[in-house]
Amino acid sequence: MKKVLILLLISTIISAQNRSTEQRVDSVLALMNLEEKVGQLVQYSSGWATGSKTDRPEESSSDLLKAGKIGSFFNIVGAETTRELQRIAVEESRLKIPVIIGLDVIHGYKSTFPVPIAEASSWNPELVKKSARWQAIESSAAGVHWTFNPMVDIARDPRWGRIVEGSGEDPYLGAAMAVARIKGYQGDDLSASNTIAACIKHFAGYGAAEAGRDYNTVDFSERTFHEFYLRPFKAAVDAGAATLMSSFNEIGGVPASGSHYLLTKVLRGMWGFDGFVVSDWNSVGELVPHGVAANLKEAAELGLEAGVDMDMEGNAYFRHMVELVNEGMVSIETIDESVRRILRIKFRLGLFDDPYKYNNVETEKKNVLSDEIIKATKDVALESMVLLKNDGLLPLKKDIRKIAVIGPLGQSKEDPLGPWNQQGQKDYVVTVVEGLQNKLGSSAEIMFAEGCKILGEDRTGFAEALETAKKADVIVLSLGESLHLSGEAQSRSTLDVPGVQEELAKELHKLGKPMVLVLMNGRPLTINWFDENVNAILECWFLGLQSGNAIADVLFGDYNPSGKLPVTFPKSLGQVPLYYNHKNTGRPLNPKVPAYTSHYNDESNDPLYPFGYGLSFTKFEYSDLKLSKSEFKKDESIKVIFTLKNTGKYAGEEVAQLYVRDLVGSVTRPVKELKDFAKIKLNPGESKMVEFSITPEKLKFFDLNMDFVVEPGDFKVFIGGNSVDVIEQSFKVVE
Ligand code: NOJ
Repeated sequence: MKKVLILLLISTIISAQNRSTEQRVDSVLALMNLEEKVGQLVQYSSGWATGSKTDRPEESSSDLLKAGKIGSFFNIVGAETTRELQRIAVEESRLKIPVIIGLDVIHGYKSTFPVPIAEASSWNPELVKKSARWQAIESSAAGVHWTFNPMVDIARDPRWGRIVEGSGEDPYLGAAMAVARIKGYQGDDLSASNTIAACIKHFAGYGAAEAGRDYNTVDFSERTFHEFYLRPFKAAVDAGAATLMSSFNEIGGVPASGSHYLLTKVLRGMWGFDGFVVSDWNSVGELVPHGVAANLKEAAELGLEAGVDMDMEGNAYFRHMVELVNEGMVSIETIDESVRRILRIKFRLGLFDDPYKYNNVETEKKNVLSDEIIKATKDVALESMVLLKNDGLLPLKKDIRKIAVIGPLGQSKEDPLGPWNQQGQKDYVVTVVEGLQNKLGSSAEIMFAEGCKILGEDRTGFAEALETAKKADVIVLSLGESLHLSGEAQSRSTLDVPGVQEELAKELHKLGKPMVLVLMNGRPLTINWFDENVNAILECWFLGLQSGNAIADVLFGDYNPSGKLPVTFPKSLGQVPLYYNHKNTGRPLNPKVPAYTSHYNDESNDPLYPFGYGLSFTKFEYSDLKLSKSEFKKDESIKVIFTLKNTGKYAGEEVAQLYVRDLVGSVTRPVKELKDFAKIKLNPGESKMVEFSITPEKLKFFDLNMDFVVEPGDFKVFIGGNSVDVIEQSFKVVE
């Protein structure tokens, strides 16, 4: 009888389309017993591990699902396989609450797009949104409801391997990319069967790990934290991100996954986030080694009270939460609130209305690795490359007869997929050699020699590489990092091109042939020798499935590169952290008399390539910078107008950038801060008047009292194609 009543109630809840989500959430909650509530807070990976193996439950996944003891799985894919999990949840458990299935769709499911740092180099939020949209279309067809992306961590230290997963060093660009990705994944309607919930991560400060060593301690001022590191998170919450992941690191003595300040005061209190928080892999359990909880039970209490709703690899909650409630250590109201947040997202995804909406095998066949998505990976790859140097060698002439591709990445099928490529299909990867062959057909000879491996000291391949190169008209050096050298737990203590690759390049250079470096890597590298000695450098990062075709398009001028660096390239490791929006200091460098001003004895302060930098085959000229007035009220917007002209011979796109400097404040301000940008297409000789607007919001910062305000005073505005080469004007803000 009781069972029949519950079933009746559930079907009423499920069919009540016209009732508000909150009412529906509460009606489900009212039926749940404590074990079922705790079950919603538990998540397990079903497959491979990206962290330590945790002490998994003894029962099988299906028994746990039937018992309502698991609310979410991740690392399980396929319309059919995930349907079976869902079937158990909604047909065999008492309350029939659907399970939510997550996956790290970081830059694609099977169709691999460029890595996130590459996409950020496009400075094209619309394009990045489209990429995320495609990723959602493909992964949702394979039963995925939820991606653990975007990673919006600001990173100023290229030693940190996860710099590849984010959008670089700047909060404004980072926020724009975060919002674009959320809109792409979640679309206009989260309940559609081809949209997925986004998860902003890693909250927070994870990108500032000391010495660039992954998982290491983070410690910075509250001002720096809010001003730089939290900005993209705030923008993503405002854009409606459904979920958020708490990070592994501590900040100033408080581990993020046990931080009430971060997860409750800031996130829910100040920002009004109403989605749910999932921990990172066992990051609640790691409160024990952090040293803020004596055991797993204390960790569970601390994590939940702080605001972690779902425990990834959830042993802490699975093993101890029921007990904690029964002992009165955790209140049922706190549990209810976390369950409510998780059910809310399950409702918003439409899982209660149709739990199998992501489980259509036909849709999976149609959408996974479709021709359209593969084409889209190329469109994104084209805009993701950054031309770092060109003495005129590029674009190459199409009548070139012999090209030598030299280097360990020239024929690699796996590395172009980049780290976190999920289920990337190496058989679909177009290598550099294949891309050139596709471009030139039988009219040219594309020769290849590996020369050396990415890592190691073996030079035995040098001789063959030199012999091959001797026969060529031009050498395409295909060097860099393997996909395994960046990503999680892949910190490096040098930024050199690894192994003997630079040595190989030096030997080849002696041949006196034209050389272009095609670089694949997940972080800024110190490439001074290349900058001085090769004719052209194309930064490709890891471009995904269509790598070779996209690279060939640029090398032969069928696409004019338009990418700009989202992160500074240092000259040497000793300069790190090196970022454009630094403070002036009390003793800024005096280049004429450097003594006792802020400098190195053995290195310049300048980067090799600054933030925002990137060349085109054409030239752009900035002029006539004007402001609508010279004095503005605090609540007024400032119109900034300038002329951009294509003075070169090729049609091209330029990312025009606007920076601001607040000259005197109640606290010190960065020497420059990005406040707007636009990608503008111009034909040769064409010019355009471009207008930007500096809204009061863009001038706000955290003042001496940590209030977010505009302070009256003198400002400078800079316009240019990177953060260094700019034209400038001044303005004043008054009360
Ligand atoms: C650990 C990583 O830090 C996080 O980014 C990822 O989403 C989870 N593992 C799940 O794979």
